[in-house]
Amino acid sequence: MELIPPIDVVRLSPGTRDDYLAFFDHERGAAFSDNPEWARCYCQFYRVPLALDWKAFTADQNRVAVDAAIGCGEAEGYLARAGGSVVGWLNAQPRHKLPHCFERMGIEPEPVDVPPHEAAVIVCVLVAPAWRRRGVAAALLDGALADLAARGITIIDAFPFRAGDSTDPTDHYHGPAVLFASRGFETIAEHPDLTVMRRRLAHSEAAP
Ligand SMILES: CC(C)(COP(=O)(O)OP(=O)(O)OC[C@H]1O[C@@H](n2cnc3c(N)ncnc32)[C@H](O)[C@@H]1OP(=O)(O)O)[C@@H](O)C(=O)NCCC(=O)NCCS
Repeated sequence: MELIPPIDVVRLSPGTRDDYLAFFDHERGAAFSDNPEWARCYCQFYRVPLALDWKAFTADQNRVAVDAAIGCGEAEGYLARAGGSVVGWLNAQPRHKLPHCFERMGIEPEPVDVPPHEAAVIVCVLVAPAWRRRGVAAALLDGALADLAARGITIIDAFPFRAGDSTDPTDHYHGPAVLFASRGFETIAEHPDLTVMRRRLAHSEAAP
């Protein structure tokens, strides 16, 4: 039986910026090693206002932009590490850090009944191809929920695609609905392409 090294989940910060960039580095990092067409993204898509032409941005431009955003704490999220390397990424951030994500998804934000700074969103998930179906996305979600709870987040929304029976990994790039359901997320809205699922967080769920 193959032994799976333990998976550590760490928050993206200026101190982990180089790990992030190495994971995503255009057509060299592990992140998009099976999908070079998406490799220019650097998970910048939901940070870019709809008024700007996303297709016009190159890999180098996206890399520079995300590098700067991580460096000043504007871009957040969670990295999964195993055996010394980054093996996964979860783009989970307070809502105010991703003000353009709703227009990019083509939906209105669902109202929240808490102060705006207590709401967070999960937009993208990406696990290195060699590490898929080994619980990395689940570990990222668990780590993010515990950390967000510790930071005082009380509502977190996820937007899984309505992928039907598809097991194509790219059809689940917002994370599989079944994964969110297994962690207590409940459906609060349905759109033609995606479902909005919400989880309330209690401070008692915080990471120690
Ligand atoms: C979707 C994705 C994140 C799942 O990551 P993962 O680490 O393999 O997921 P896990 O092993 O934690 O799986 C948890 C559960 O999610 C569901 N799941 C995972 N991958 C799935 C898939 N490809 N299809 C359907 N359900 C899936 C399963 O229910 C799974 O539980 P199980 O293995 O016990 O059946 C991964 O396939 C991926 O990275 N896809 C590409 C996403 C992408 O292109 N992102 C770009 C945005 S930056």
